[in-house]
Amino acid sequence: GGGAVEASLRARIRQVPGYPVPGVTFLDITPLLADGAALGQAVEALAAAVAGIEFDRVLGIEARGFILGAPLAVRLGKGFIPARKPGKLPLEVARQEYQLEYGQAAIEVHQDAIRPGDRILIVDDVLATGGTSAAAAALVEQLGGRVAGFAYLIEIVALGGRRRLGDRPVRVVLPS
Ligand code: PRP
Repeated sequence: GGGAVEASLRARIRQVPGYPVPGVTFLDITPLLADGAALGQAVEALAAAVAGIEFDRVLGIEARGFILGAPLAVRLGKGFIPARKPGKLPLEVARQEYQLEYGQAAIEVHQDAIRPGDRILIVDDVLATGGTSAAAAALVEQLGGRVAGFAYLIEIVALGGRRRLGDRPVRVVLPS
């Protein structure tokens, strides 16, 4: 924590009260994404945060988990697995439903995306209630993979999402 890079990243995240539904405050990372230096620093910070976790591939969660997860995978020389919203993948999928802060949702991965024993790093922009990430972990394990850990740009600590992620490593750039 602390430091100029962290402050610069925080300054490029906007809080939007009442979006997408009343009572929820949305964290808008588009100013951070729009700034080349900040985007690079965010990916570098994620790479530093996951140091010591041994894994084979990054699984990113649609949509903002793709934006950070894919460059992180490239940076670390790993492959990337997209966990998609329902109906987007053309072949056989594994599917998990979950509760969002605002409603019901589901994510899917191709059944052949994960092989037994694969060590998967789950990446997303925000850890909030943890429902999305717990669903992603269940998908990995349903297909015989192992969850090596979780990495986020932002954790909304007060929502306690970590409790739903078991005892695997959880790494965060910006606790909030
Ligand atoms: C947001 C965020 C995480 C999830 C975190 O995604 O990008 O994926 O919510 O919430 P949780 O920890 O309470 O599950 P959203 O569903 O808004 O989708 P998007 O990335 O496609 O905008």
